[in-house]
Amino acid sequence: MPMRVLVVGSGGREHAMCRALAEAGGVDVLAAPGNPGTAQVARNLPVDDVDGIVSAAVSEAVDLVLPGPEAPLVLGLADALAAVSIPCCGPSAPAARLEGSKAFTRAVTAVAGVPSPGFTVVVDRSGVDDALTRFSAPPVVKADGLAAGKGVFLPETPGEARRLVIDLLGGMLGDAGRRVVLEERLYGVEASLFYACRETEVVVLPHARDHKRLEDGERGPNTGGMGAVSPNPMVDASLVDEVTASIVLPTLEAMAARGSPYSGFLFAGLMLTDDGPRLLEYNVRLGDPEAQAILPRISGGGFVDVVAWAAGIGDEEAPIPVEDPRSVCAVVLAADGYPGPPRTGDPIEVDPGLEGADRWLIHAATRLDDGTLVTAGGRVGAVVGRAESLERARLLAYEGVGLVRWEGMTYRGDIGDLGDDRR
Ligand code: AMP
Ligand code: GLY
Repeated sequence: MPMRVLVVGSGGREHAMCRALAEAGGVDVLAAPGNPGTAQVARNLPVDDVDGIVSAAVSEAVDLVLPGPEAPLVLGLADALAAVSIPCCGPSAPAARLEGSKAFTRAVTAVAGVPSPGFTVVVDRSGVDDALTRFSAPPVVKADGLAAGKGVFLPETPGEARRLVIDLLGGMLGDAGRRVVLEERLYGVEASLFYACRETEVVVLPHARDHKRLEDGERGPNTGGMGAVSPNPMVDASLVDEVTASIVLPTLEAMAARGSPYSGFLFAGLMLTDDGPRLLEYNVRLGDPEAQAILPRISGGGFVDVVAWAAGIGDEEAPIPVEDPRSVCAVVLAADGYPGPPRTGDPIEVDPGLEGADRWLIHAATRLDDGTLVTAGGRVGAVVGRAESLERARLLAYEGVGLVRWEGMTYRGDIGDLGDDRR
């Protein structure tokens, strides 16, 4: 009997997950709700709320559920699945607070001694001035809760910081900002590392570099990510070992000691400072587009083994996935207007020469309109190329970008360029 896996979500990360599971062989892949890309390798189910997903998992008799995004986990998807004895590769709601609450994460990691920026939490207006005096330079201001990537501010003056805190407490981002975290501003190069976790054990996944700004040369507004490469040329094995030992394992031990053991994917956002790596944030999921660059580098059935292990299936000994030494480059194709309200509904033309063993199109926001593939959101998809070197992977991906067209398609021309990231 093939193992039946239900992937939850509808973006590029979830298409990449479905592809990796389907390629491993011996896996029957379902997606909820999925997109036209996941439909090529999986069977899409038209549900996207926690209750609907749990009912579908039961009626389809799935062996395990793999959530892509954080929202269903924060809402208790893993807990609801546990109640019906279905394994889930993702944390319980209490453990998902590592992404759902920045104040919670700082509290846990402070106790665990994780290298982090200095911080303080403000809950009402009367505490603002006192909190600001604790910082010698304007602190980073963060809404505590989930704010769809819009909850972090880097003010240049104390006055600007004060105004932001007051606006957040006043409801500028709704409930997400009812508590505000102030943090020492750090400088250096940013990097992210990805792990699969099972309580206090980890599997280190391939690393990736994301390009967050809209325009070439890291200019323009922040986006969800305009492209990614794996491996990240700025990360080496000793950095990975240091982050695993000083940041990730102490956090997992602290979570287990609190009675909220963490399982599932963990994304550690880091600042590499002159004094060593510091934890900026955790996400309880894989990054998107990073997953599109990482997963094609886990060879054979490795991804299936990792997902099953992190979901608590089989014995505790961590699998050791074989890393594909080749490089992967994923170039995001966005709609006109992104990251603001995008233009949608444009027919997408894809030259059949794009798809091959080492190059493919990932769907993120596409839709079938009477059989025609059209744009349906800001980040529409990505062209992914895999080759012996990063340079060749980039060439392959960009050649593929030239084989996709729609009115208003935009993309960055420098994904995978090393450039100078220092800020
Ligand atoms: P976060 O969602 O907490 O990772 O923050 C989003 C972005 O804000 C990060 O990727 C950094 O670019 C920046 N950032 C967050 N915290 C800090 C900090 N303490 N010092 C400097 N930059 C930060
Ligand atoms: N690409 C960054 C993220 O997924 O949050």
